Amino acid sequence: MDRLRITGGTPLHGEVTISGAKNAALPILCACLLTEEPVRLNNVPDLKDIRTMLRLLEQLGVKVQWHDSESLTLQASDITSYEAAYDLVKTMRASILVLGPLVARFGQARVSLPGGCAIGQRPVDQHIRGLAALGAQIQMTQGYVVAQSDRLQGNTVRTDMVTVTGTENLMMAAVLAQGTTVLENAAREPEIVDLANLLIKMGARIKGHGTDRIVIEGVDRLHGAEHNIISDRIEAGSFLCAVAATGGQIRLNAVEPDIMGATLDKLREAGLSLTLGEDWIEATMNGRPNSVDIRTHEYPGFATDMQAQFMALNTVATGVALIVETIFENRFMHVQELIRLGANIEVDGSTAVVRGVDTLCGATVMATDLRASASLVIAGLAAQGQTIVERIYHLDRGYAQMEHKLQSLGAQIERI
Ligand code: EPZ
Repeated sequence: MDRLRITGGTPLHGEVTISGAKNAALPILCACLLTEEPVRLNNVPDLKDIRTMLRLLEQLGVKVQWHDSESLTLQASDITSYEAAYDLVKTMRASILVLGPLVARFGQARVSLPGGCAIGQRPVDQHIRGLAALGAQIQMTQGYVVAQSDRLQGNTVRTDMVTVTGTENLMMAAVLAQGTTVLENAAREPEIVDLANLLIKMGARIKGHGTDRIVIEGVDRLHGAEHNIISDRIEAGSFLCAVAATGGQIRLNAVEPDIMGATLDKLREAGLSLTLGEDWIEATMNGRPNSVDIRTHEYPGFATDMQAQFMALNTVATGVALIVETIFENRFMHVQELIRLGANIEVDGSTAVVRGVDTLCGATVMATDLRASASLVIAGLAAQGQTIVERIYHLDRGYAQMEHKLQSLGAQIERI
């Protein structure tokens, strides 16, 4: 298993280009199932989860043609299977995103229930309830969701909680339904807006995307389109947390500052000075960061996917920070590992109290989930001495060439 060896204490200097957003690309890849025509996607990030999703789509019969390392064309003209098998779904929960498109276009789907995962139970009951509200007959057999429908019927669906992939699944189901669908309590993440923008280019009729009420007029068919995937706001935020923790000055290219508001507010509070361009951010950090309280919240609040990275920053800050995780029930797996590096953190339920220490000391630590691994890399970059981060296959799921990008910023980091 790959590991990362980091020698910390070096301020970061230089510039990196941020990749396309994983959490926009994953639903967008599934949207190609909604038409028999080719869909061309650009700015696709080179990630393990993307390759996993493409393998799943190819198993269904989708033709995949790469044009270069970030552009590909998908065509779902010869779908031969409607099944997403457990052995693939268990490695990536986002596989559930084929459910809505398969039922919408082919009237059937057999998708394994994703297991839980490190950060929480993460059920998909809202996806299933919503599909049933659109008229699908749903059965749960042997750990699979089996859905049937001659043609989905538009309806009003109010999810019990805000769910990102739930909103995406139901939006993709509704675009080919008969009549109008209203998604109430919809998620407002930029990745949902990006998916909606592609669907509209394909001929869908969607309004309200980006708000908590999305209205979809069903159409009979969709056509092909070309789309550039938005920048990854979480990757960008992770690099900004890194420079805030190590000091130095970096420039991020190919970013969208206006979808990073909550993160940028908190980074400024931590003492990072930021200059924002149209598609770039310059960040300078002198001295130690200030402790910053965090309470995660659905977009446009502070992203849960930035919580672990900010906790790493708070471990070396001057003061005490309160971090409250409101979205997932078990997203503090990185705490024990940060403590091994000398951090002072106490957890009580969904709240962590982080008392900043003068320095962290390098050690061997283990990644437990995607954002926890980014948190450990950030802490290793700030720590004195050498840190080994094990099980970095978690990191590779969501960060393209993380160590190479950090090396270009002067970090002493290598994959072993
Ligand atoms: C998406 O996961 C993201 N993944 C996650 O990013 C992100 O952390 C999460 O949204 C929250 O922003 C992708 O977009 C591929 P939810 P998702 O449905 O859609 C509960 C990363 O690091 N819930 O918004 O699975 C659920 O348990 C990943 O890139 C139900 O109870 O999250 C959670 O507590 C990690 N029933 C809350 O809602 C349901 O049917 C929010 O989950 C659906 C969700």
